[in-house]
Amino acid sequence: MFTPSHLGTALTDSALRVLLLGSGELGKEVTIALQRLGVEVHAADRYANAPAHAVAHRAYCLDMTDTRELRELVETVRPHLVVPEIEALATETLAELDAAGVTSVVPTPRAVQLTMNREGIRRLAAEELGLETSPYRFASSLEELREGIAAVGLPAVVKPVMSSSGHGQSLVRSLDEAEAAWRTACEGGRVATTRVIVEGFVDFDYEITLLTVRSLDPATGEVRTDTCAPIGHRQVDGDYVESWQPAPMSEAALASARDVATRVVDALGGRGIFGVELFICGERAIFSEVSPRPHDTGMVTMASQRYSEFDLHARAILGLPVDVRLDQPGASAVVKAPSDVVSGAPIYEGLSEALAVDEVDVRIFGKPEAHPGRRLGVALARAESIEEARERAGEAARRIRVRSKGETADA
Ligand SMILES: Nc1ncnc2c1ncn2[C@@H]1O[C@H](COP(=O)(O)OP(=O)(O)OP(=O)(O)O)[C@@H](O)[C@H]1O
Ligand SMILES: [Mg+2]
Repeated sequence: MFTPSHLGTALTDSALRVLLLGSGELGKEVTIALQRLGVEVHAADRYANAPAHAVAHRAYCLDMTDTRELRELVETVRPHLVVPEIEALATETLAELDAAGVTSVVPTPRAVQLTMNREGIRRLAAEELGLETSPYRFASSLEELREGIAAVGLPAVVKPVMSSSGHGQSLVRSLDEAEAAWRTACEGGRVATTRVIVEGFVDFDYEITLLTVRSLDPATGEVRTDTCAPIGHRQVDGDYVESWQPAPMSEAALASARDVATRVVDALGGRGIFGVELFICGERAIFSEVSPRPHDTGMVTMASQRYSEFDLHARAILGLPVDVRLDQPGASAVVKAPSDVVSGAPIYEGLSEALAVDEVDVRIFGKPEAHPGRRLGVALARAESIEEARERAGEAARRIRVRSKGETADA
């Protein structure tokens, strides 16, 4: 992985150039963190005026799953580092460009390839590393799905192998529901897919994200792996609605979680932050999945940590030292477009009421279109206790009302 010996001046020959692939709310914060260090940031997404586009030096719209378009962009921008923010990319093209020395893919081309597909990362974690996961099978037809469900047992969770944020996911309680789950998966995946994973349902006590950073230790010049304080979160329909840090857990459960997270990210390699998703059953951490990049539930770190997950990612990928310390208990609560919103440019009301809540901050992502249920912002809070932080963040998020241009205020 490329390690800069110095930082140059953006938009000159000496610039350190980063190409961000995916320009959502997480990419926007990564861009800001890189900008603060003087990095020249190029931000790409499939649609215009994406959140990170607004804060990057240059913005691009393209189909990042298209080999030719992606190669052309990388060859034009000539970034020192390519920083993926999403999974749906022509990862093989990225691997080729990395191997040819054209650019360096963060954290590694292999990590990006393995994590874009649930099959790659699951086989690595369960079969190569021997980590505990939910029982699972892969299926490429309804028939295979039925066999898979029988093998993992009921209830089971069916997911397209390429999907995120709960899209195409369903809980199957009886074999009769297999066909509906198969259809949901085929329609809801990120790319037209007919391959799914079926997992046995894990009756966990709670779930966490363990942000884990691989960075260069200035004392030794070697890569070191650090874990942030655990983040608790609540998911509704496979999508995160609320998170808090630190998640209260026993010493033993935390040790197990750290062990699993460290083994997974060390197997993926490179440098940067990883969001390791774990289910906790008693004192056991069960591996679920990992993002080789900042994690949505980690937005809470903008309130709770001395350096946010975005600052840590920026530092780690540049070969700079990190500091994962927690500052104060914090919480995040997402602001979504209501289910009956009329598609259009969102309008936000109630900001003044939201920011009147003690120790609260708000991020409005600046997405150009509201769709029902789309994540448009987040409320962040700090407090003496997690309970209070959650209350504050939740209250602030509830005070923000989203409608779209064209709807009347009282509609
Ligand atoms: N096998 C399982 N047993 C119990 N709950 C599960 C299982 N798989 C998924 N879930 C629940 O659904 C949520 C989303 O699942 P998962 O993380 O696999 O999907 P995702 O679409 O990648 O979501 P995201 O991209 O938001 O992380 C999990 O955080 C968990 O709450
Ligand atoms: Mg997940």
